[in-house]
Amino acid sequence: MTKRSEKKSTQDAINLLLEDHARVQKLFKEFKKAKEEPEAKQDIVETACTELSIHAQVEEEIFYPAAREAIGEGADLLNEAEVEHNTAKDLISQLEEMDADDELYEATFTVLGEYVNHHIEEEQERLFPKVKKAKLDLEALGEEIAQRKQELEDEMGMSERSPSPDELHVSGEQNR
Ligand SMILES: [Fe+2]
Repeated sequence: MTKRSEKKSTQDAINLLLEDHARVQKLFKEFKKAKEEPEAKQDIVETACTELSIHAQVEEEIFYPAAREAIGEGADLLNEAEVEHNTAKDLISQLEEMDADDELYEATFTVLGEYVNHHIEEEQERLFPKVKKAKLDLEALGEEIAQRKQELEDEMGMSERSPSPDELHVSGEQNR
């Protein structure tokens, strides 16, 4: 079994998701800066796509259903979030099919970034405040999310929670 004892004490669900958001936004910024380095760009795209897929999956599997139950009247927000996830997943699978020198590679990633920013804004400004007010055990939910993320990261071959793009070249080795 993988042991990751350095897993910080329980983190509340919203903080975990905020961290994901921050990490992904950083990757989109780094992509802009990496204009002249195709390899770095490709690494960034791959990391961002993996991070986003995992993020979307834990939100859909764990966070949204819990939020739906807790906030009741916020169903529209959650429906919109799911539609946005579908669009993002679509762009991610397009990117996965593309070569880095594809004419539309950058544009596709840029558009993905725009969707993601919108998603982040909606969640942070509208959804999370509602969830915070609702009676929801965010610590327990956070634990559930953290565990599921770990599983998905292992499945997807990410050895660490958040490799920075420069660390990616060593991500082949996995501790198990
Ligand atoms: Fe999110």
